[in-house]
Amino acid sequence: MQEKIVLYKKVADDVLAMLQQAHRVVQFDDINAGNREAFMAELKDATGLIGASVKIDASVLDHAPRLKAISTISVGIDQFDPADLSKRGIVLLNTPDVLTETTADTGFALILATARRVVEMADYVRQGRWTHSIGEDCFGTDVQGKTLGIVGMGRIGGAIARRASLGFGMPVLYNNRRPDPAAEKAYGARFCSLDALLQSADFVCVTVPLTPETHGMIGAQELAQMRPGAILINISRGSIIDETALISALENGRLRGAGLDVFEREPVAPDSRLLKMPNVVALPHIGSATHETRHGMAVCAAQNLLDALSGNATRNVVNPEVLTRLPA
Ligand code: 8YV
Repeated sequence: MQEKIVLYKKVADDVLAMLQQAHRVVQFDDINAGNREAFMAELKDATGLIGASVKIDASVLDHAPRLKAISTISVGIDQFDPADLSKRGIVLLNTPDVLTETTADTGFALILATARRVVEMADYVRQGRWTHSIGEDCFGTDVQGKTLGIVGMGRIGGAIARRASLGFGMPVLYNNRRPDPAAEKAYGARFCSLDALLQSADFVCVTVPLTPETHGMIGAQELAQMRPGAILINISRGSIIDETALISALENGRLRGAGLDVFEREPVAPDSRLLKMPNVVALPHIGSATHETRHGMAVCAAQNLLDALSGNATRNVVNPEVLTRLPA
């Protein structure tokens, strides 16, 4: 049966064609103040919703009484409340796996960039300050052989552990809801408490998903436990780290640096103190942002939605409890 789908992110033509072959699609490239009302109006009779980077809460869902399925073009589901979706009988689907390696690359790029001061040194050359052989004031710190602490050993955490252990000879510590015997066997990763990880790691990489439990999990107390001169990397969600406490830990010199792909508020305010610090590498949430991976994510999300609307959702279902209640 033809359904009405609202698409709220720009996707490639072939992805749009996948959806249009089966259903009627109303397309928004993104949602902004200028088109939000039109977006809400289109939801009235929509049964499928697909997109990313927009909070889809009760204020949106109340306009969408016929919605059966939401497919997010992301692995992160923090823009949604799965329990509320289940209550409303709406299935939520996401895109794990396809972005794992690319996002792990972003994490490792930040580890290397902060340790070796890549961005700062590139600016130094660009500014014409490279007038003689560099001295200690331009030195960084080694990555190989240093201890990496991974907070959240999911798919992306595992891909970072593989790079660290097999590529850089780094001992890996990790904290997770439960131990991961596969990562322990493959990468010699050691399960430990968050406190022990913070106290022992030279690099701490946050890959845990944002949930009510992980919100603010790295605050002033946790930062104070990190080794002096350690480096903090965040490729998950900004709100997992208390940004004000992080700024203090960087300004008082306790941390050597931070590599941040994500911020409490995105886009980060241009006058954020984080952007004034040369030892902070700040990226505009590029985690999965390669042509290949973003296309793969959009194809995956489109397929997820087609499956769900035809009553065949078997993969990438976030709230499977709702499926038994969905009409085929
Ligand atoms: C993007 C991400 O924010 O998948 C996620 O959860 O964080 C990123 O890949 C998202 O895909 C927006 O398009």
